[in-house]
Amino acid sequence: MKVIRSPRQMSEVSLRLAQQGKLIGLVPTMGALHEGHLSLIRGAASQNDAVIVTVFVNPLQFGPREDFARYPRNLARDNRLSRAAGADIVFAPSARALYPSGFQTRVDVGRLSERWEGRSRPGHFRGVATVVTILFQVTRPTNAYFGQKDYQQALIVRRLVRDLQLPLKVHVLPTAREPDGLAMSSRNAYLTGAQREQAALLYRALRAARARIHAGERRPRRILSQMRRLIRQAQDARIDYAAIVDARTLEPQPRLHGRVAILLAVWIGRIRLIDNLLVDVS
Ligand code: PAF
Repeated sequence: MKVIRSPRQMSEVSLRLAQQGKLIGLVPTMGALHEGHLSLIRGAASQNDAVIVTVFVNPLQFGPREDFARYPRNLARDNRLSRAAGADIVFAPSARALYPSGFQTRVDVGRLSERWEGRSRPGHFRGVATVVTILFQVTRPTNAYFGQKDYQQALIVRRLVRDLQLPLKVHVLPTAREPDGLAMSSRNAYLTGAQREQAALLYRALRAARARIHAGERRPRRILSQMRRLIRQAQDARIDYAAIVDARTLEPQPRLHGRVAILLAVWIGRIRLIDNLLVDVS
């Protein structure tokens, strides 16, 4: 089936679906689809009458020294995989079509965007929030699906939907992992063989932290220093941040309680990987 390229055509199609009372599931992606995206598409297909997958490498969410130009792009493959996983429509606008000449609006989610990924990648979440708001407008989803791997992004999208009173529900589905636990990500393809092996340490460190919490440790500093020690074993690894935070506010806790998120961002050589685990502290 053909990919829809024009926002206006996409908007007409989604309006028709909405007028027919169809439940529309949206899976926003930047393409280079992997099992993580496909599990979102399958999840969407099981809960909706029509599934729209968007494929758009969003220039607004990349910093000047990031990998926008070399981000993997293969629309024919993404289209084929999306449909095999249950998508009805693939919407892949050009940057020109989504941000026509004169475009200057930005959506800014405030405090939740400031820490962690927001601090390491200034402007990133403004770009994400802006494009996601446009995609919601154009595709009119009943349900939208995001992966837990980008946990801070998922919280920001939830906040945005609440604050702007958008009539849709945000679903956050579990992170898809490789057999050794590495979170699936389009950027894993950049890793060399040796780096790929070292990358498995992220999940091992997260699991070790979770085990310490389950064993009764409540002092985040203790847990974080153990995580750092573990990750430093990998010769190409450099920690950007490791944190244990309140899972709703992303604020650090002096003593762990309630639901917490263990967040990790690590450079392996020149590739930056993120991952997280949620833990209920009893
Ligand atoms: O998670 C992503 O792939 C992107 O940030 C998203 C949500 C598609 C917005 O460009």
